[in-house]
Amino acid sequence: MNRIALVTGANRGIGTEICRQLGQLGMTVILTARDSFKGEAAAERLRAQGLDVRFQQLDVREQASVEEARAMVLRQFGRLDVLVNNAAILLDEGVRFLDISYELLQTTFIVNTFGPFLTCKAFIPTMREHRYGRIVNISSEYGQMAQQTSDTSAYKLSKLALNGMTRILAEELAGTNIKVNTMCPGWVRTEMGGPSADLSVEEGADTAVWLATLPDDGPSGGFFQGREALAW
Ligand SMILES: NC(=O)c1ccc[n+]([C@@H]2O[C@H](COP(=O)([O-])OP(=O)(O)OC[C@H]3O[C@@H](n4cnc5c(N)ncnc54)[C@H](OP(=O)(O)O)[C@@H]3O)[C@@H](O)[C@H]2O)c1
Repeated sequence: MNRIALVTGANRGIGTEICRQLGQLGMTVILTARDSFKGEAAAERLRAQGLDVRFQQLDVREQASVEEARAMVLRQFGRLDVLVNNAAILLDEGVRFLDISYELLQTTFIVNTFGPFLTCKAFIPTMREHRYGRIVNISSEYGQMAQQTSDTSAYKLSKLALNGMTRILAEELAGTNIKVNTMCPGWVRTEMGGPSADLSVEEGADTAVWLATLPDDGPSGGFFQGREALAW
């Protein structure tokens, strides 16, 4: 069966690579980005590799934008099978907690945590209707409880909350064939990870693609890195 997948924040970095790997598995991939020009260019690069990749504008901060993407997906494909919540921002690297502003904390949560909330709200109903869904939240080991120390804390708290939301959703969807998992890609060479990071984007995307293609008896409500369980 031809699966339909949507990836947020996919104009660069790990998001583009997840699109590429899902496309290589034969899925129809909706590559989304907040910037239409950059997103269409990334989709075009993947289409040039022979992959079925469509572009849709999606800014995860905007409920109307999420709604538009949902309407397009349902109009064109009638369902969504795979949702990868990849879009994120890191605005407070190395900054101490009491030195961040309320605005920075809010902005970080709006993209990293509330964005996935909006996309899940938008797409879970069609997954329920078709009795299939694989939701992958791209988190970070910075979302682990043990990592909650006083630097980079807006980002860390937003990922901690994303992990919590993953568990809440998995419980709410228990008994359905919709699996929701969260994961850390590792330290990856992207604009966010920087050039000294350990992993290539190919390696960073691997666990996300594994979770996006879990069999019906696969896990839900888990936290993973390198295809292995990671401590909360
Ligand atoms: N790289 C690492 O070492 C690392 C480690 C742990 C976790 N992660 C996680 O992995 C995921 C991908 O990270 P990356 O390294 O590929 O980061 P990246 O290169 O900075 O890419 C982030 C992507 O998110 C998009 N984005 C930002 N705000 C958005 C919004 N409001 N709506 C839609 N898209 C938006 C960006 O679009 P623009 O180009 O328009 O800004 C970009 O496409 C993130 O969730 C990140 O937290 C990365």
